[in-house]
Amino acid sequence: MQLVDLRSDTLTRPTDAMRAAMAAAEVGDDVYAEDPTVNALEEKVAALFGHEAAVFVPSGTMGNQICLRLVCPPAEELLCDADAHVVTYEHGGAAQHGGIQTRTLPGGLMDAAAVEAELRPAGWGTVATRAVSVEQTHNRAGGAIHSLDALRGLREVTARHGVALHCDGARIWNAAVATGTPLSSYGALFDTLSVCLSKGLGAPVGSLVVTTAVRAADARILRKRLGGGMRQVGILAAAGIYALDRHVDRLAEDHERARLIGEAVGVLPETNIVPIDLTGSPYDGPQLAAAAREEGLLVSVVGPRKVRVVTHLDIDDDGAKHAADVLAKLLS
Ligand SMILES: Cc1ncc(COP(=O)(O)O)c(C=O)c1O
Repeated sequence: MQLVDLRSDTLTRPTDAMRAAMAAAEVGDDVYAEDPTVNALEEKVAALFGHEAAVFVPSGTMGNQICLRLVCPPAEELLCDADAHVVTYEHGGAAQHGGIQTRTLPGGLMDAAAVEAELRPAGWGTVATRAVSVEQTHNRAGGAIHSLDALRGLREVTARHGVALHCDGARIWNAAVATGTPLSSYGALFDTLSVCLSKGLGAPVGSLVVTTAVRAADARILRKRLGGGMRQVGILAAAGIYALDRHVDRLAEDHERARLIGEAVGVLPETNIVPIDLTGSPYDGPQLAAAAREEGLLVSVVGPRKVRVVTHLDIDDDGAKHAADVLAKLLS
């Protein structure tokens, strides 16, 4: 039986055309900043977000870890929501690598008033809040989107308090396509962004730190210190350029297929993630995942009674219909 894999959008296989672009890439030594394909990718991504510079890194996790260290000194405070990737899935990296103390707001989308109420100023005996991290789209909130107004509110509050604003933009492309917001409008609001090529865009590897030229120079040092300095990595950057040129607008198809699956289970997804709450269902998360596997469908367990499915480049209309039918049958 062929399995339809909806566990994550990080699992897409490069298409033959993407592999051809990778094979044809001109390369050099990127540790000397001499890989022309990496340089082209970094310039392209910086321009898309209206920033001065971008730095190619192996993963979204490394991108976040570098960004957090750029904006938050050791032993000072990063504020984020309790479900944020940076405090849920990065295995304490902010603390271990950056010595950063994190404090969390309730999980999910953040708003300016709630953040402002928690900011702690330097100089009166508390740990100072130096940075706020926002996730766009929000993974554990089911691909939910921070509206541009909400982000502008966060920018206004953080700027007024002299606090930096970071975006974990692993899926920022999905937000841009779903709302028609230019990437540069998002970019203008953040001091640092980490954006992933290896999620819905379908590249096998790679993320970028997007920021000022001064911070980017520091980011290259932090990347090297973490062991993320890569040599003839234009082979991977070529996949990223290919993905940016061809796979951004098509994210709308993933959103449409997520909606089709969502309809079958009574969920209205905002982007490509369909969160399924099993409260009241005879299945818990692992049981539902096992039953779905029997029907040829792989889903992710994200909580004791919560699973999710994620649409991506490898899932066509038939795959989405199969997922919708299986989930409707299991959950009816
Ligand atoms: C919101 C978010 N940020 C960061 C990452 C990390 O990306 P990577 O798996 O490339 O380290 C992920 C991965 O799923 C994610 O969902």
